[in-house]
Amino acid sequence: MTDVSQNAEGHDAPKREHWGSKLGVILAVAGSAVGLGNFLRFPGQAVNNGGGAFMVPYIISFLILGIPICWCEWTMGRLGGRFGQNNGPGVMYSLWRRGPAKAIGAMTLFIPVVVYMYYVFIEAWCLYYAYHFFKGTFAATFASAVEGIDPANQGEVVDAVVGASGAFFGNAVSSEKNGGILSSGSMLWMVLICFVVNFAIIYRGVTRGIETFCKIAMPLLIGCAVIILIRALTLDGISKGLGFMWNPDWAALKNPQVWLAASGQIFFTLSVGFGLILCYSSYLRENDDVVLTSLSASSTNEFCEVVLGGMIVVPTAFLFLGASAASQGTFGLGFVTMPSIMYFMPGGNFFGGMWFGLLFLAAVTSSLSMLQPAIAFLEDGFGLRRSGSVLMLGVITAIGALGPLYYTRKLIGLDHTDFWCNFMMIIAATCQVLLFGWIIGAERGCREMNRGADFNVPRFMPVMIRWITPGFLIVILGSWAYMNAPGYLRGMSPTIQGSQAARSVYAGAIGDHFSDEGLSEEMLGVRVDEIVGASADPESLPGWLEDRRVEADAARTVAEEDASVARSVFILLAIFYLSLLVLSDIACRNRIGKTIAKAEAAGVALGD
Ligand code: ALA
Repeated sequence: MTDVSQNAEGHDAPKREHWGSKLGVILAVAGSAVGLGNFLRFPGQAVNNGGGAFMVPYIISFLILGIPICWCEWTMGRLGGRFGQNNGPGVMYSLWRRGPAKAIGAMTLFIPVVVYMYYVFIEAWCLYYAYHFFKGTFAATFASAVEGIDPANQGEVVDAVVGASGAFFGNAVSSEKNGGILSSGSMLWMVLICFVVNFAIIYRGVTRGIETFCKIAMPLLIGCAVIILIRALTLDGISKGLGFMWNPDWAALKNPQVWLAASGQIFFTLSVGFGLILCYSSYLRENDDVVLTSLSASSTNEFCEVVLGGMIVVPTAFLFLGASAASQGTFGLGFVTMPSIMYFMPGGNFFGGMWFGLLFLAAVTSSLSMLQPAIAFLEDGFGLRRSGSVLMLGVITAIGALGPLYYTRKLIGLDHTDFWCNFMMIIAATCQVLLFGWIIGAERGCREMNRGADFNVPRFMPVMIRWITPGFLIVILGSWAYMNAPGYLRGMSPTIQGSQAARSVYAGAIGDHFSDEGLSEEMLGVRVDEIVGASADPESLPGWLEDRRVEADAARTVAEEDASVARSVFILLAIFYLSLLVLSDIACRNRIGKTIAKAEAAGVALGD
């Protein structure tokens, strides 16, 4: 694939695989972007961060971060492809022949592979739910939950259905105990099916595998979503639900967390900074348009997110279950509230199966794009054949997925892995945009962006890429680290977490004991310190508190274990990143470096 020879572009350049059609590449990139983030994450984020007001920071982030960074990634990927590189480290190294380029390249491998390790688990939940809807398990579960309840008593019926749905989810993902999934089996089967589906498609290659699948899956999933949307919008009283979702709470705009949530959503939904766009766009031809293609893929994503995702989940949740159910967190909304709605919605069993089926398809098109960058790296960097690279990546991701699959209590393995990936995404995007604006040069980069474009990018784009986008990113990175990192770092200390957990058990009992004194929170804290000490590990306790010791010790043990898991996740991810860095270095010094040199000798250059 990377031999230098006379190619169709008219000069000596590395011969490589290309997308089959413009529509194919748009659907593949849109497929990468459209995923669980659109249908699950977006509605939850919007409703919990100011409703309609959330759209202000969301649109600003889309304009300042989303569109410019996508354009930069598309352009860098297409450039790297001319040097025979379809992998992040190779693309970065062909643009900047310095050590830091390898570090950025390693990030563009790390993020998709690690996101895949937990994303595939959520993909399996969707498949599991679709299967159980079509099989009738949900109908039976809800029917037995409401047995004996007077249907006129709507509140009790809702509580019973939501309770049964929560219990189903807890059992399905084993959120109460670690290791439950490995022993119970059924969800494990779904994970295996997802692995086989993803790797079978990826094995067929970019054009025959990814492009062909996305050309079928994208229209299918959008069609299903439109049918469900029509069903939702024709429900009696749905306007109240739409009002609940979209009524703006302007005060939310003063909260920096809302701005962070909006920019985080733009990153996740467009897959910006992941390294996926770099990889996909490297399969473009030298003069293929990137400006309009990138906008088309992003617009398809926004349609799926704002129109389809934003108008189905929350409005129907509000309509059937009330405001509290509509404001659940992402997983609660998706996997507890959404199935409950189907109990009340006419034709709910069918629509439930269809909904989770479309989520599964959306997740597959996204997860394929998470695998391709590493496959391309193994092929370009180490000369592996497709069978070898697929097998090797399959083994690596299967081992990595064991963490999120085993440590399911409170979904802690998944949560911590996701946290560090989000952190890395903002860093990777910042590095990429700085490289584009300052190393390649914003003006030169934008000239390259406009090559073959159906229309040129706006004239202010170089200023935007050089100053505004990186400035905005640095502010986001700083505020994000300031607001979230201390909590996560404390979460990795077994001693701190253990003491806190034991202390809160004792605090509850002490508060009850002195309830007649009406202690303020601060006074209660002082009293707790006096009785159990700062570490909440007292040698002796007053008689009335002694019987809480067992409970406090159990809470301490659980919290210590969870903190150790969080710490191990961090250490393992750091080791994985360092290993990728070493591999990038080896590949860039050898095979990648040689291919780039051959391309240069054949006349390929960065442009004027
Ligand atoms: N962009 C993908 C999603 O939204 C990762 O799920």
